[in-house]
Amino acid sequence: MNALDNILNRVSARTLKKPHPTQDEMNKVFRGALRAPDHAWLRPSSFIQVTGDGIDKLSEIFEEYAKTVPGIKDEIITKYKNAPYRAPMIIILVNSIKDHPKVPEIEQKLSTAASAQNILLSLNALGYSAIWRTGKLAFNPFVASKLNLEANQEILGYIYVGTADGTNKKIPELNVEDFVSYL
Ligand SMILES: Cc1cc2nc3c(=O)[nH]c(=O)nc-3n(C[C@H](O)[C@H](O)[C@H](O)COP(=O)(O)O)c2cc1C
Repeated sequence: MNALDNILNRVSARTLKKPHPTQDEMNKVFRGALRAPDHAWLRPSSFIQVTGDGIDKLSEIFEEYAKTVPGIKDEIITKYKNAPYRAPMIIILVNSIKDHPKVPEIEQKLSTAASAQNILLSLNALGYSAIWRTGKLAFNPFVASKLNLEANQEILGYIYVGTADGTNKKIPELNVEDFVSYL
């Protein structure tokens, strides 16, 4: 696929089914993720690939977290518990902050965000679909500790991965002139 067509035609998919990418394919996807711009090459991005039993474990963690929320309704606990089953594979985006005189925290997070877009584009190029989700389960210290993350590490989001179930949604046609000014 032409690289520019890949960018122009990528679309997120909410309903994802099997198959998910093979490990060979994911290794390429992760190599692409690690080519995101990275000021001073601090390597702030890492990834947790979740499939199979891992999805069950993540579901348990989400449910455990839900039960710590005071006054939470049963239906919300069930929603969190079921969340990981929305796709056969999930990539957890982890950001590790390092002290650096020229690279503030925000730049390190932006680098991981760029790696996420590389993941979405690589998956699209390989014929898979995905959606980047956050919500209360991202930036969540309880979930991070259950995943054995360190104090300087944070979950920036979850990329749900699989094969699109149904037809892709229509890509909105935006007028470039509404978003670009010229100096
Ligand atoms: C940082 C970030 C967090 C997001 N979190 C969610 C989310 O929690 N739930 C959701 O439905 N969409 C979320 N989205 C939006 C979807 O990933 C997707 O971009 C959106 O549905 C638009 O679809 P498109 O990517 O095909 O344009 C998030 C996007 C970004 C960049």
